[in-house]
Amino acid sequence: MARPLIAGNWKMNTTQAEAVALASAIAAQAGQFERADLLVCPPYVYLSAVATAIGDAPVALGAQDAYHEPSGAFTGEISTGMLLDVGCRYVILGHSERRHTLGETNEIVNQKLKVALQSGLIPIVCVGELLEEREAGRTAAVIREQVTGSLAGLTTTDATRVVIAYEPVWAIGTGKVATPEQAAEVHADLRKLLAEEYNPEVAGEIRLLYGGSVKPDNASELLAQENVDGALIGGASLKADDFLAIAAAG
Ligand code: 13P
Repeated sequence: MARPLIAGNWKMNTTQAEAVALASAIAAQAGQFERADLLVCPPYVYLSAVATAIGDAPVALGAQDAYHEPSGAFTGEISTGMLLDVGCRYVILGHSERRHTLGETNEIVNQKLKVALQSGLIPIVCVGELLEEREAGRTAAVIREQVTGSLAGLTTTDATRVVIAYEPVWAIGTGKVATPEQAAEVHADLRKLLAEEYNPEVAGEIRLLYGGSVKPDNASELLAQENVDGALIGGASLKADDFLAIAAAG
């Protein structure tokens, strides 16, 4: 299995001073985590300041979204080229908050994904079911639709560069974490689906992250599941100690 990826999604949180302090605290300890890759995804406006705070420490920088056009008259949007320019290696795409609050569709995620791959960024594509979808027994169908729609038209080579984050919407920011069994079941389904869509080798190379109320006290059990290759962390990534404790569990 690939080294686990422990990723912090800071969402629309922190001031610039807080972002720099958080990144500095993580960077100061990052050398200890030889068995995990660390990633922080601050708000766009603090990317440069966070890049400076990270310096040479082994912490990658990522953005929380990107637009699918390279430049031009798209007021308020940020291109993948701009993200690379300020030191990003990763970009989160199709986060459930963008899908459900801002109406992002699989087609939009797919457009962004292709451009991100072309630019050389590593995309983290988020998928996950709503509570009512889980209760209606539709989890596997929803995940299949989101994965096939968001990754449509990718070559096998491109597919190996994608990271997928399974984030059940009902577990995000609610403190209601998926049980290790629930996470393991969806991750096993994901691996099987990717093997069907591409081939088993490619499916094995795609990192599958779990996200949704990951905390220091539940991280080791989740990360111990066979197909869980890392975590995408919201709330707990805003405290350096908690984020690093999760990385230690990985
Ligand atoms: P929480 O860890 O706050 O539940 O957020 C998860 C998430 O959405 C990460 O992208």
